[in-house]
Amino acid sequence: MNQKTEPIGVIGAGWVGLVTATCFAELGHSVVAVDVDADKIAELRAGEVPFHEPKIDELLSRNAERLTFTTEIADALEEARLLFVCVDTPPTYSGDADLSRVQAVVGEVRDDGEHALVMKSTVPAGTGAAIKRELSDIAYVSCPEFLKEGSAIDDFLHPERVVIGADPGDEWAADAVAAVYEPLGGEMVRTDVASAEMIKLASNAFLATKISFINEIANVSEEVGADVTEVARGMGLDQRIGSSFLKAGIGYGGSCFPKDLKSLKQLAGNTGYHFQLLTAVIEVNELQKRRVLKKLEKHLGSLAGRTVALLGLAFKPDTDDMREASSLVLASRLQGEGATVRGYDPVAEESARELLPDVVFCESVAEALDGADAAILVTEWPEFAEADWVSLGDRMANPLLIDGRNFLDAAALRDAGFTYEGIGRASSTGRGAQV
Ligand SMILES: NC(=O)c1ccc[n+]([C@@H]2O[C@H](COP(=O)([O-])OP(=O)(O)OC[C@H]3O[C@@H](n4cnc5c(N)ncnc54)[C@H](O)[C@@H]3O)[C@@H](O)[C@H]2O)c1
Repeated sequence: MNQKTEPIGVIGAGWVGLVTATCFAELGHSVVAVDVDADKIAELRAGEVPFHEPKIDELLSRNAERLTFTTEIADALEEARLLFVCVDTPPTYSGDADLSRVQAVVGEVRDDGEHALVMKSTVPAGTGAAIKRELSDIAYVSCPEFLKEGSAIDDFLHPERVVIGADPGDEWAADAVAAVYEPLGGEMVRTDVASAEMIKLASNAFLATKISFINEIANVSEEVGADVTEVARGMGLDQRIGSSFLKAGIGYGGSCFPKDLKSLKQLAGNTGYHFQLLTAVIEVNELQKRRVLKKLEKHLGSLAGRTVALLGLAFKPDTDDMREASSLVLASRLQGEGATVRGYDPVAEESARELLPDVVFCESVAEALDGADAAILVTEWPEFAEADWVSLGDRMANPLLIDGRNFLDAAALRDAGFTYEGIGRASSTGRGAQV
């Protein structure tokens, strides 16, 4: 690639940090990636990726020579002027983002006028200004990340837009960030720090709003005999609406939407503004997961003593990330009603075990369904669509399937003898309804 290279520091080598580091290395830059987790750094030095993300292993091994992994921020400060901050910003009990990891980084960098903190972590609007009050000589750039787990590498290398926020005085750093992103294409949005911070929060809030909206339409569709997948298809063709994020299901989860929505709601609340719409979006999402139990009870009556299989545990396919996964709420609610819960996920078992201590983990869909009274499709892994549902139905004590993602072919499932219920679609009777 015919471009100027720039040594880059990446602080935090989790999903965002490791993707950032390997992709910049792929572009020809030398990268020093720092993480406080010594085990993670040891794994990365050995060429192992500590989580499941398509294509990242390949990038890591192809660019090993340009990648250095360390536990010392000093090593990154030594090599690079741009320090991409990719540490986690989990929610606190109040709903505010926990900025303690960001603060730890701020505490370790030198306020020498030679470095720039480039914030990729999702932080509340105002964070950049607060950091600049503490470190007045360091340059600060807000460069929020929009990648999606499961397609993170492609998202990073082919961005739809790159948002770069800097305030007067820090233009050199914004220009340097723009230069390293330039070969990737994508619309550059050059703006101020607070607006860049808000772009990230508002984008996630809007996407989550679309999900909760279509879920409410799904719930009404069930009452009036409409099929939400048809409704969404018809709506999505209107370009003002668009078809993405109009998939009804059991709600959003993951490491970003739940915490970012809470954080934005709290941020607004801290200023005295009550963000009513966001409050409703969050509540609809919580209730949506729980509605699945009502669907089960409609067919099975009490769930006490029943065995229910959860197909998919990760918050979405192509990842083993269990943060705020719907399976966590479902498993605990089912167990609360006295059901035995079995779980199967093609890649997330290891990360799920600790979080779901009383779930019986299975090695295959077939094992999970053996003798089960019902199954809930939680994560839309492709292997579920390709499964032989006729023989799987025979293994179940009662072939009842709640398709929490409207992912399977409803007619084929019914032909296979299942009682199939999706979300926002007409329900059916089949073998399962005889129980
Ligand atoms: N995961 C996503 O899909 C995604 C997408 C866009 C934005 N984001 C945002 O990016 C940020 C990072 O998310 P993630 O999913 O990569 O988190 P993560 O938990 O996977 O990774 C964070 C890493 O930072 C490390 N860390 C914590 N404190 C540190 C310190 N003081 N010095 C060095 N390393 C430190 C942790 O050990 C961990 O490895 C969050 O703010 C998140 O909201 C995430």
